[in-house]
Parts: sequence; C-alpha cells; structure tokens
Amino acid sequence: MFISLNSHATSDIQKWQKPHKLETQQQIEQQLPFYPSRTTTNRQQLTPDMFENSEICKGCHSEIYQQWERSVMAHSWEDPIYKALFKRASKATEGQVDNFCIACHSPIGMTSMNATAAMLEGDQHLPGVNCEVCHNIVGISGNDNGAYILSPNKEKHVKLGPRPDASSPYHQTEYSDLHTKSEFCSVCHNVSHPFNSTPIERTYDEWQESAYNEQGVQCQDCHMTPGPGMKDNPGRSAIMGKERKHIYSHEFTGGNSTLHQYFNDPESAELAREMLRSAATIEFVEFPETLTAGQLATVKVKVANVGAGHKLPTGFPEGREVWIDFDVKAANQVSIYRSGAVVDGHTEPGTHSFKVTLGDANGNVVDLNVWEVDRVLSDTRILPYGYSIVDYTFLVPEDLSGDVTINANLNYWPFPQQLVDELLGEGKLKVDIVNMTSTKATIAVLDKESKSAIAMKINKKQLK
Ligand code: HEC
Ligand code: HEC
Ligand code: HEC
Ligand code: HEC
Ligand code: HEC
Repeated sequence: MFISLNSHATSDIQKWQKPHKLETQQQIEQQLPFYPSRTTTNRQQLTPDMFENSEICKGCHSEIYQQWERSVMAHSWEDPIYKALFKRASKATEGQVDNFCIACHSPIGMTSMNATAAMLEGDQHLPGVNCEVCHNIVGISGNDNGAYILSPNKEKHVKLGPRPDASSPYHQTEYSDLHTKSEFCSVCHNVSHPFNSTPIERTYDEWQESAYNEQGVQCQDCHMTPGPGMKDNPGRSAIMGKERKHIYSHEFTGGNSTLHQYFNDPESAELAREMLRSAATIEFVEFPETLTAGQLATVKVKVANVGAGHKLPTGFPEGREVWIDFDVKAANQVSIYRSGAVVDGHTEPGTHSFKVTLGDANGNVVDLNVWEVDRVLSDTRILPYGYSIVDYTFLVPEDLSGDVTINANLNYWPFPQQLVDELLGEGKLKVDIVNMTSTKATIAVLDKESKSAIAMKINKKQLK
C-alpha cells in the first residue's frame, strides 16, 4: 500500500546498536565520559568559560539570534513538559538516565557544568541547544544518543559553519561539511533506549531510509528556511557578512505549536501550524454516489505524507499523534456517525490515529514512563512520500432524509491533553489541536422506495 521506497524500514533491532555499542564496563569508562549518552569532547574536562554567551553573537548575527531565541531548541531545557518528565525519569531510575537526557537537552550543562536532575529545582539556568553547542561540534562518533564531539576552541576562537569563504572580524571560521548534512542533526534526533536499544525516536533513520536522502534533501533544507518548503532566503548572516543567495535561517520550525504558545509566542506557533498544514493531504477515494436509509455505507479516506522528510508524525513518540476526525451529519446538523472525537483528553477508542505505541517488557502500553520501554507495539505513522487508506463504515438511520455532509479533518497534537494534565496538573497547559487539512462532501440519502425515482431526478438535474 505504501510506496515501497522504505521496504527495509523495520529491519532488525541490531541496527540501532551500530556503530560500536561498547561491551565492557572498562570500555565504557574509558570511552564514554557521559555514559549512557554517547557524547564526547576532545579534551578531558570542559568548563563553562570555554563557551561564549549567545548574547555576544546577537551583536552581529541579530536576525539569526532572534530566530533561534524563539525556537523549540532554545527552550530545550526550560520546556515544562521536558522538565516534568525528566524529573520522573531521574527519580525512577535513581539518576541513571540523567546524563542521557541532559546530553541532548543541555549539552553545555552536561559537558561543562556537571548538571544533574537536581538542577531543575534551584534558580540555576542551564543553556539549551544554543549557538555555541552547534557551532562547536567538530565531529560525530555515531548517529544517535548524543554522539556528537563537542570541542570549543577558545584559543583559536573558531566557529564551524557551512561557508568555505566566511570571514569574521570577531572569530575564526572553519568550513564544516558535517553542518550541511542531516548527519549533524542525527546525533540528537535519533534516540534509542540507552540500556536495551529499543528504537524510541528515530527521525534521522526515517529520513535516511527515504527518497529525500536519495534526492539529497537534508533536514536543513526544510527546517532552516523561513517557512515550509525549500525556499531561498537571500540576505546576509551578519552585519559585516557577504550578501548571499540563501541564508540558512534558525527558526527550526517543527510541529509543536503548543510549546510556542506556552512561551507566549503566537507567531512561532502559527509557523508550526503552517509547517503541519504543508505536510499532508486528505481526500475521499471511494465514495457512494447516494446513501440509502437503513443501509450500511462505506467511505474510504486517503491521507498522504507529502511534505515531511520523515514519518508523519515523527519525534517524541509518547505524545505525537495525527488522527482523522470523521463526522457524518444529517441535514439538521445532528451527527449520525463520528470517529475521532477527543474524549477525556484522549482521542476516543476506535480513532484512526497515525502514531507509535511503545510497550514495556510485559507488553503493556507505556504512555509516559519512557525508561520502561522495551518494544514497539505498533507504528501506524505514514512514511515519507507514503500514504494510508482508512475505511469508515456506518449505518444510515431508517428515518433519515435529505442530504448528509461528511467531514474528514486531519488533526495533530504533540501530546494528548490527558498526558499533559497528568504531568503538569490540570489547567496548567492547554494543548493546541491543529487542523492540518480537511475534506468534505455532501451525499443525498434515498429512502428505499423512492430510491429510483429520486435518482432519476438527480440525473435530470445534472443534465440541465
Ligand atoms: C563582530 C561581529 C560578529 C560577532 C560578535 C560574531 N560573529 Fe559570527 N560571523 C561574523 C561575520 C561577518 C561572519 C561571516 C559571514 C559571511 O561570510 O557570510 C560570521 C560567520 C559566522 C559563522 C559561519 C561560519 C561559516 O564557516 O560558515 C558562524 C557559525 C558564526 N559566525 C557563529 C558565531 C557565533 C556562535 C557567535 C557568538 C559566540 C558569533 N558568530 C559572533 C561576525 C560576527
Ligand atoms: C522535505 C522536508 C523535510 C525534511 C527533509 C525534514 N523535515 Fe522535519 N518536518 C517537516 C515537516 C513538514 C514537519 C511538520 C510535520 C510533522 O510533524 O511531521 C516536520 C516536523 C519535524 C519535527 C517535529 C515533529 C513533531 O511533531 O514533534 C522534527 C523534530 C523534525 N521535523 C526534524 C527533522 C530532522 C532531524 C530531519 C532530518 C533528519 C528532518 N526533520 C527532515 C519537513 C521536513
Ligand atoms: C541546532 C544547531 C544550531 C544552532 C542552535 C545554531 N546554529 Fe547556526 N547553523 C547550524 C547549521 C547546521 C548551519 C548550516 C546549515 C547549512 O548550511 O545547511 C548553521 C549556519 C549558521 C550560519 C551561516 C548561515 C549562512 O547561511 O551563511 C551562521 C552565521 C550561524 N549559523 C550562526 C548561529 C548563531 C549566531 C546561533 C545562535 C543564535 C546559531 N547559529 C545557532 C546549526 C545551528
Ligand atoms: C545537541 C542536540 C541537538 C542537535 C544537534 C539538533 N537538535 Fe533539534 N532538538 C533537540 C532537542 C532536545 C529538541 C526538543 C526540545 C524540546 O522540545 O524541549 C529539538 C527540537 C527540534 C525541532 C522542533 C520540533 C518540534 O516539535 O517543534 C526541530 C524542527 C529540530 N529540532 C530540528 C533540528 C535540525 C534540523 C537539526 C540539525 C540541523 C537539529 N535539530 C539538531 C536537540 C538537538
Ligand atoms: C539523543 C537525544 C535525546 C535524548 C537522549 C533525550 N531527548 Fe528528549 N527530545 C529530543 C529531541 C530531538 C526532541 C524533539 C522531538 C520532537 O519534537 O518530536 C525531544 C523531545 C522531548 C520531549 C517533548 C517535549 C515537548 O515539549 O514536546 C520530552 C518530554 C523529552 N524529550 C524528555 C526527555 C527525557 C526525560 C529524556 C531522558 C530520559 C530525554 N528526553 C532524552 C532529544 C533527546
């Protein structure tokens, strides 16, 4: 049913362990100073003064700074949902996962400030994924679980970037091919369980196995442009910089409009909604011309992933959900069939959802306690360039007459409301349900006797 460019998408689990999953305790101690994350630095110990404050960059890279400041990655440490889940995870594992989470959510905190979960409590602010993280990554040692090599070079004062001809009066620049490729993002956008290797969040792998990779379309081409699609963004990246055909922008827009709203940024929330709207199409593909009162009817709906370079949805698996809200209404606006309503902060049972369901060692669903994950129970997300066809069968009531209207809405939320309420407390954060796209049709209902008579009337009308 899917375009089978991704036939090897579910290849065996060993894949996630390569390259080189370390075997012995001694190897781990020698080679992974921030175990269980795979992060390394090429010195013994980093200190906070080796990193500059992003405010300094703002002086010359003001536009890029303002874009980044509003991005989800700038908030990766203060994100209230992250904090709440991290607290739980740390407590439940007695700190065993601290390094793991911090490696991606505050790389500077981990490598230079000995950050632990306890720092969530005090006033100390840890930096999120900022300028100095990304532009001091000198290499990678794998494609997941924080396998970046973070090495600020204070003496030479080098910033790594995509332009061989960049020249700055303030710092040295060094060309880095890595920064222009999806592999740069892979180190954080591919998460496996640190101890049992279950693939949890594998955005990079999804991309890597897709036609976008074959076409040479990188994460940067979609996420470092001013809006959805691969548009050019001419200008300068710094006040004294060269005029260039395309400047890579730093909004890093994804789908999480809810978080932007939480941080009082309606414009970024709207950018996220635009991104979501560009990702999918929905249409009816099989469809009765008329309905008959008292009989069953079947409608087929096709949802296609036309804009996302990875599965739809991708990312944080406990939460991210795209679903069809399918609703059939009689002429008097009364609903005669519905599937996909939100009930008690969840999509109702029977909803056609595109999402991953993770399970624990006993096969029970894990919806929040990620550290208990042991297997993937199901994955109904839509592959890049793929599609899914969903059937709805419903009974047309005996006494119905007139037209019915069928609505199919494709919705997204980053978390079910109920999970957010459980983590943060009720009323703390309202989840934004985004309508990505929708389609609608009107069908005439015939009672059994007059079926042929009315059908003739419709035909006559069409002839006029
Ligand atoms: C005094 C002005 C100034 C300051 C302050 C400054 N930069 Fe730059 N930076 C520039 C200029 C000019 C360029 C060259 C732009 C071009 O060639 O298009 C540049 C280029 C870059 C590049 C691109 C390098 C490449 O090879 O493509 C990066 C990355 C960068 N700066 C990061 C930073 C970071 C991080 C900070 C803060 C710690 C910072 N800059 C502070 C002026 C500045
Ligand atoms: C062809 C364009 C395209 C490419 C290539 C692409 N993305 Fe996306 N990405 C999108 C669109 C559109 C969305 C919004 C729809 C969605 O959430 O899937 C998105 C959403 C996301 C999200 C948010 C998911 C969520 O719901 O929380 C993340 C994270 C992300 N992309 C990371 C990446 C990374 C990392 C890569 C490279 C490995 C990448 N993207 C490649 C277009 C792209
Ligand atoms: C999540 C990682 C990330 C963060 C955070 C980040 N950058 Fe970048 N930046 C990149 C990547 C990757 C590129 C190169 C994109 C490409 O060429 O494909 C880039 C490109 C640049 C460029 C060159 C742009 C161009 O098109 O010439 C400058 C300048 C720059 N960044 C400065 C900054 C500054 C200043 C900050 C903080 C305000 C920052 N970056 C934060 C990853 C990041
Ligand atoms: C050092 C780790 C790290 C690197 C490198 C990194 N990211 Fe991220 N990224 C994160 C984290 C952590 C978050 C989630 C923050 C949160 O939601 O609290 C995130 C969030 C995002 C989002 C927003 C998702 C949403 O739900 O809206 C996008 C888009 C994204 N990253 C794209 C990229 C791209 C593209 C690259 C490569 C150029 C990249 N990231 C490199 C750690 C990283
Ligand atoms: C290898 C890097 C990596 C590690 C390790 C990691 N995360 Fe994340 N995390 C990410 C990225 C990337 C995203 C954004 C994905 C998306 O937008 O869908 C994210 C998103 C999240 C979110 C969703 C935030 C939101 O507002 O939607 C939560 C919660 C979270 N992480 C918690 C944790 C916890 C707790 C741990 C440790 C047990 C952890 N993460 C470990 C990279 C990582």
